[in-house]
Amino acid sequence: MQDTIQGPPYPNKCRLPFFLYPPAMWSNPEGSAFCERLALDESAGDYVVYVSVPFCRVRCKACPYFVRVLSPEDKEGEEERYLNALIADIRRWGSYPRWRDGRARAVYIGGGTGSILKTSSLKRLVDAIAESFPLTPGCGITLEGNARDFTEDKLDYVASSRINRVSLGVQSFDEKVLRIVGSPHAAQESITVIQGLQKRGFKNISLDLMYNMPLHTITEWKRDLETLKQLDVKHFTVYLYRIHEGTAQEQMIKSGRLPPVRDPDSPEVLEMRREASRVAAELGYREYMFDHFAQPGFESEYMLWSWREADKDALAIGPGAYSYINGYRVGTDKDVAGYIKAVEKGEHLLSTISEKMGERGRRERYVIFSLEFFHIDFAHYRKNFGTAFMEDFSDIAHRLKHKGLVELHPDRMELTGLGKEWRANVLLEFMNPAYWKDEGALSERNWSMNTVMVQIAASDRRKWLGLD
Ligand SMILES: C[S@@+](CC[C@H](N)C(=O)[O-])C[C@H]1O[C@@H](n2cnc3c(N)ncnc32)[C@H](O)[C@@H]1O
Ligand code: SF4
Repeated sequence: MQDTIQGPPYPNKCRLPFFLYPPAMWSNPEGSAFCERLALDESAGDYVVYVSVPFCRVRCKACPYFVRVLSPEDKEGEEERYLNALIADIRRWGSYPRWRDGRARAVYIGGGTGSILKTSSLKRLVDAIAESFPLTPGCGITLEGNARDFTEDKLDYVASSRINRVSLGVQSFDEKVLRIVGSPHAAQESITVIQGLQKRGFKNISLDLMYNMPLHTITEWKRDLETLKQLDVKHFTVYLYRIHEGTAQEQMIKSGRLPPVRDPDSPEVLEMRREASRVAAELGYREYMFDHFAQPGFESEYMLWSWREADKDALAIGPGAYSYINGYRVGTDKDVAGYIKAVEKGEHLLSTISEKMGERGRRERYVIFSLEFFHIDFAHYRKNFGTAFMEDFSDIAHRLKHKGLVELHPDRMELTGLGKEWRANVLLEFMNPAYWKDEGALSERNWSMNTVMVQIAASDRRKWLGLD
């Protein structure tokens, strides 16, 4: 009997870069009182903390994140006002037993651009985080940054501080490519900052690179990967460039000022992606998570603890940030002024909320996030939920095997090459059927990065899975 099928496994390929689960969130009618549902007086055990610095020097042309442009002069003192509120909010969240009596496994200072803060502000922020949360000895503290921000004194501070990982938005080492994307920095600045950190003994550096921008050639991409190879960074990500709705880049393409990007399934783009994997293999790096490559031992603690351990809490602080607390997703409005006002009034700005994940939902969330690491470890699953993955998801696992998308081993379910190619469709198999066709969710505001996820959930399950 034939046990795999021929032809494409699904009617349409889904290209969602990452999943948020459950997909739908709603305006919170209860305000700060919603905190009562978050069991703030019970320890969360292990958790991660995300801190948002929603500022950038410029708005890159296709960036989908919530950012405000902050000029270097900052005449209105916006950085100081934001930082005061952020620190007050961090201290307030940190005072609850849920966090005080638990253990922070990883911290991510992102945005926007964490490194945009003045050195003195950054120091205040890191001190406040370290004083407010019990950080484990191995706690990874990542600063997400842009090379334009790193003055000599900031490099000195970062290299000697509790920050133990820097993630730089490099995008490309080519000046022409950076101008098309609209990045804040010059190509050489990334190299100077990486070498400046390394000279100070700071090794744990990650880079974000993007590929398939308008006019991006394979020659330029290969040159970027060659440069990466010379730099001895420990971790890098490669992101397929996305033209998000409503961005300046979309306008430029629509008006004919720039050519459109190539089809992601075109031979050139597939070759670009293969080239990244080839360079990673040459370096001895492993793709431990979708699009994330690391020298063994330098995998992102934050990714491991927030995605691989998806049933644990993730406390996200700042406007436009999304938490997962006690089985609820909770989001804070993309509104810096409103955030500052709420903190000054002694309130938490809990603008959007999800339903509480039940037993089945927690398992679905765990499986969807674990598959970002390409496999389900049956023992880890059982440790989390007390049940067997192959009993809870038997039908889906066998369907995936039949389609040649996974291999089933006694200790794990592993995505095959085909499964990796169709990864987002495979993940959608585990989305609860009740969440499909959720058109009401589209009318909610404030989706931020969740828009594409919600659009997919609002569509027909048949379109992505061929199933009713
Ligand atoms: C939140 S940004 C933070 C990095 C930092 N602000 C910077 O860009 O210098 C994280 C990463 O998202 C990626 N990114 C931004 N816009 C993108 C797009 N349109 N398509 C794909 N990836 C994108 C970039 O690689 C960027 O480094
Ligand atoms: S890509 Fe980075 S620097 Fe550019 S606007 Fe987005 S967050 Fe800011």
